Amino acid sequence: MSLKKRILEQLESHRGETLSGQQLADSLSVSRNSVWKAIKALQGEGYSIEASTNKGYALADGNDILSEESLRANLHAKYKDAQIIAFKSVTSTNAEAMTRLMGGELTHGALIVSDEQTKGRGRMGKRFFSPKSGIYMSVCLCKSIENMSDVMVITPAAAVAVRRSIAALTGADARIKWVNDIYIGKKKLCGILTQADIDFESGKAGTFIVGIGINFVNQDFPDDIKERACALFESSPTITRSQLIAEIYKNLIELTDDLTDRSFMEEYRRYSLVTGKEVSYLYNGEEKRGKVIDIDDGGGLIIDEGDNIRTLTCGEISIRSTENEWI
Ligand code: BTN
Repeated sequence: MSLKKRILEQLESHRGETLSGQQLADSLSVSRNSVWKAIKALQGEGYSIEASTNKGYALADGNDILSEESLRANLHAKYKDAQIIAFKSVTSTNAEAMTRLMGGELTHGALIVSDEQTKGRGRMGKRFFSPKSGIYMSVCLCKSIENMSDVMVITPAAAVAVRRSIAALTGADARIKWVNDIYIGKKKLCGILTQADIDFESGKAGTFIVGIGINFVNQDFPDDIKERACALFESSPTITRSQLIAEIYKNLIELTDDLTDRSFMEEYRRYSLVTGKEVSYLYNGEEKRGKVIDIDDGGGLIIDEGDNIRTLTCGEISIRSTENEWI
């Protein structure tokens, strides 16, 4: 690992502290001059490192450059050795993960992140607005799952992981809109896209890419979504993206470890935005309406249509929020 990377790792894992040039030089077995040169190079790459002659070096509070080092410094000790790939820009972290997976490059728990995506993918073939400074992460889950119903709860587990992490680190009241969107109030903050690598011989899916996109700090949203999208922070985030990604990663790996354990569905239901609400949706091409009664342990949405109780297992719903407004 280059000296720059090693210094960055030290600064990231001692955020809020100032490390003297001598301290860094001793711990990395290099000269103080080499430390100084590496710091200059990092500053040149955009890292905001405060340098004071008598005290030493510290990462500035506002420094939020996504890097393998910043992620590793924030990951729970159990996951310090996870495979991490950090991009400045990529078409789509899910697409990148899928390509690398096919090439045999990724193992269970691999984490791919990017500062921006040029072709972010949403559900149903939609694009996902992915400008710089957002959170775009894909986690590779390699597990042999026999039961299709276990596959169906990967996305709900991811929604719980995201909601729980946001609440823990920011206190924001994030809610889950079935099946895989996270909302604050009436606006969408985050979308999740789970893709599977199917083995056509056996018909089984053994590998899953869970892609999570979060609007981290306020952006000029395009016209088609600006009324419906929101960001976690208006300006000046109080946490870094790496902190949130690391927390989501830990929760996601833990919640999907044993998918037969559905206790997380209790949390999914507790923070559901849709229970008790009137919803509209397409069923076999026909527009339907009903009232959401519950969500079952398989992630199915149980709807009272008046003359019929239906369980939706996939699709998209709109929720009636006022007389004429649907979200
Ligand atoms: C949706 O809301 O329709 C799902 C959006 C999922 C976006 C994430 S961002 C990281 C990963 N890479 C992608 O191209 N898509 C997912």
